[in-house]
Amino acid sequence: MIPNPSSDPWEAAYLRFETPEQEIQKFISRLGKLGAAAWPRDAEIVELFCGRGNGLKALEQLGFTRTEGVDLSPRLIAQYRGPAKCFVEDCRQLPFADRSKDILIVQGGLHHLPVLPEDLEQTFAEMQRVLRKEGHVAFVEPWLTPFLRFVHAVSENPLARRLSNRLDALATMIQFERRTYDQWLTQPGLVLRMARTHFVPKYESFEWGKWNFVGAPR
Ligand SMILES: C[S@@+](CC[C@H](N)C(=O)[O-])C[C@H]1O[C@@H](n2cnc3c(N)ncnc32)[C@H](O)[C@@H]1O
Repeated sequence: MIPNPSSDPWEAAYLRFETPEQEIQKFISRLGKLGAAAWPRDAEIVELFCGRGNGLKALEQLGFTRTEGVDLSPRLIAQYRGPAKCFVEDCRQLPFADRSKDILIVQGGLHHLPVLPEDLEQTFAEMQRVLRKEGHVAFVEPWLTPFLRFVHAVSENPLARRLSNRLDALATMIQFERRTYDQWLTQPGLVLRMARTHFVPKYESFEWGKWNFVGAPR
């Protein structure tokens, strides 16, 4: 069922923040930064926490042919139209065989996990289980860099929110996911420790309010 933005304030804010085309372009540029140009086009890739599938569309536009998605929400997955096979499942328990996938991508999903550290441990352990030995993970998640602190400060200013529709949309989304968002942002040491326990870092950056991580399974 297509959600009605007028009855779902998070959905309405998400749609105000950027168009699907803008989000797909954003994902394409992030994938470039994560090294996607070097990934074989027939690699078996799963986008975890794929939501409505704009990340899958970015992968398709880049020429990847064996893509799949996993998300807990049947409502969001129903909005995806494309060749990827999508599963309505919990990423804490992946519906894939051991050592069966080449690349697992998460863009803005880990910070939605309800209980840290347990859910993160379970999700990372599952990712490690399904990755082939030579495979890798790629994460892009919010990070409390000076830029993000600045964005938070500005978004608390009602005048700034009135002047910028985008800023107001972002502040509204954060408001609705406040508990898990804050839980994630306030435990960076825990997150990095857990990521490094499961994956050997191959590339990592912290910029513009994002943690970009590429790692191989240990
Ligand atoms: C901010 S959205 C990610 C957006 C996504 N990258 C996109 O382009 O639509 C976070 C997603 O995580 C999903 N989610 C939250 N907990 C989950 C879980 N345990 N397993 C699978 N998906 C989950 C939500 O349904 C939501 O679609």
